[in-house]
Amino acid sequence: MKRVNSIKQLRQQVAAWRMAGERIALVPTMGNLHAGHLELVKQAQQRADRVVVSIFVNPMQFGAGEDFGSYPRTLEQDATQLEVVKTDLLFTPSVEEIYPHGQEQQTTVTVPGLSDILCGASRPGHFAGVATVVCKLFNMAQTDLALFGTKDFQQLLVIRRMAEDLCIPIEIVGVPTVRETDGLARSSRNGYLTASERSLAPALYRILCETSAAIAKGNRGFMALELEAKQALEVAGFKPDYYSIRNAANLAEPSGDENELVILAAAYLGRARLIDNLVVEIC
Ligand code: PAJ
Repeated sequence: MKRVNSIKQLRQQVAAWRMAGERIALVPTMGNLHAGHLELVKQAQQRADRVVVSIFVNPMQFGAGEDFGSYPRTLEQDATQLEVVKTDLLFTPSVEEIYPHGQEQQTTVTVPGLSDILCGASRPGHFAGVATVVCKLFNMAQTDLALFGTKDFQQLLVIRRMAEDLCIPIEIVGVPTVRETDGLARSSRNGYLTASERSLAPALYRILCETSAAIAKGNRGFMALELEAKQALEVAGFKPDYYSIRNAANLAEPSGDENELVILAAAYLGRARLIDNLVVEIC
């Protein structure tokens, strides 16, 4: 596996592969890699000849008082894991490489509407930070495709809309959430959980499954289902941020004629803010 820090080196390597007629995939990450990230790499390898993974803890997507400073940085372990799964190129830029004029002077990308609800309402500016860095990574690497987890469902929709609106010629692939055996979605932030919080954490997915089962049985009392789920989260030891049933295509409030709904949840367990979601097909 080759490792580069500069945009110039990244472009040189990608250009050489392209000259050789190879199809190239990008997997953007913030590191502290786990089985979810490695699944993205595996899916990328099935769809492309070469896989580039980026590791960049993006300051622009963290709000004041959030965990930018304490976000787990485990670069050497990450590199070893990527080597084992035969990643072709690891791109680890510095903050100066990505924001040479400083964050304040950076041209930004905002996706209106989609960025202002749910996680965007709780974390103002978060999705502008995500859309800006992902747009820059797409332009730096210019790969044929990029892969993202559906675990961050709203993020995936924001990125799809950003690429569509800005006519960025890239295929975006969503990869299903990788979970622990007890159902907890794999996340770098699970490391913030104490042992007792970790034993409570699977309740988030269990409650999503209960709501999904109720909808599948024909229950359309969405507000009551959301309220019930929030209460169940509290009983399980969480502090719910939001719990919302939405149209899976655009995150609008359900109108009754959608084919797919998504149940999205964010809740605090101790200092960890956990998010998860479940798509429900309506037949
Ligand atoms: P990060 O949280 O490191 O996640 C990188 C990618 O891994 C994202 O596409 C995320 O959805 C995916 N992922 C995380 N947990 C997963 C799981 N359990 N199963 C499947 N995929 C999972 O998301 C980010 O970084 C950043 O916002 C980024 C897109 C890199 C922009 O900075």
